[in-house]
Amino acid sequence: MIITIDGPAGAGKSTVARMLADRLGFEFLDTGAMYRAVAWACVDRRIDLNDADAVSETVAEISIQFESERIVCNGRDVTTEIRSAEASHAASIVAAVPAVRLEMVRLQRESAAGHDYVTEGRDQGSEVFPDSECKFFLTADPKERAARRLLELQSRGQSGSMEEVLAQIIDRDERDRSRDIGPLIKADDAIEVDTSRKAIEQVVEYLEQTSRERLAISASKS
Ligand code: DC
Repeated sequence: MIITIDGPAGAGKSTVARMLADRLGFEFLDTGAMYRAVAWACVDRRIDLNDADAVSETVAEISIQFESERIVCNGRDVTTEIRSAEASHAASIVAAVPAVRLEMVRLQRESAAGHDYVTEGRDQGSEVFPDSECKFFLTADPKERAARRLLELQSRGQSGSMEEVLAQIIDRDERDRSRDIGPLIKADDAIEVDTSRKAIEQVVEYLEQTSRERLAISASKS
């Protein structure tokens, strides 16, 4: 079974998805890391991120592998590099290029085929796995999302101010929501969960309970 978790930056998707996958014994797919890896490959080649043809050529040759907690792109461990504020910005630009989305969606479907997966991103329930029987859409107040991102950056020894991070989050939300293909959107059948002022444990608890109910329904049908 595929469980999809979508939502804007800083809504808590990665942490929650990882914990949920752990509790259910499912695999976990961080699709944002894939778009970040594409952006890294473009920057590494010194490509203009707004040159869609050059970005498309880069993604045609890309190799992305997840090795437990690490992500390896074109043979290089980019786990830390892809988490900077610059990488976030670059990822949201390349994510609007149609060839990039086509290839990432293909890779996501290919890796999930025949597996139990918790997958998180922007378009997982709406576009990539529309038949998923268990979809969540996480939201949170932009100021709270910015505060979480700031803490995350600081925990990695990176700097930034609250104003800067909030502006970046609003800018990225806008780009993610307004692109033509695979925009950030809640699937009609996704359950919306507002994580503002909620402890992670409380959110995961709710998602786990709902997922187990859906799993039971799905098992009784087959
Ligand atoms: O979740 P994240 O912050 O790591 O994602 C980085 C960027 O990748 C985000 O700005 C939009 C893009 N993205 C996407 O377009 N589709 C996805 N399924 C996941 C991420």
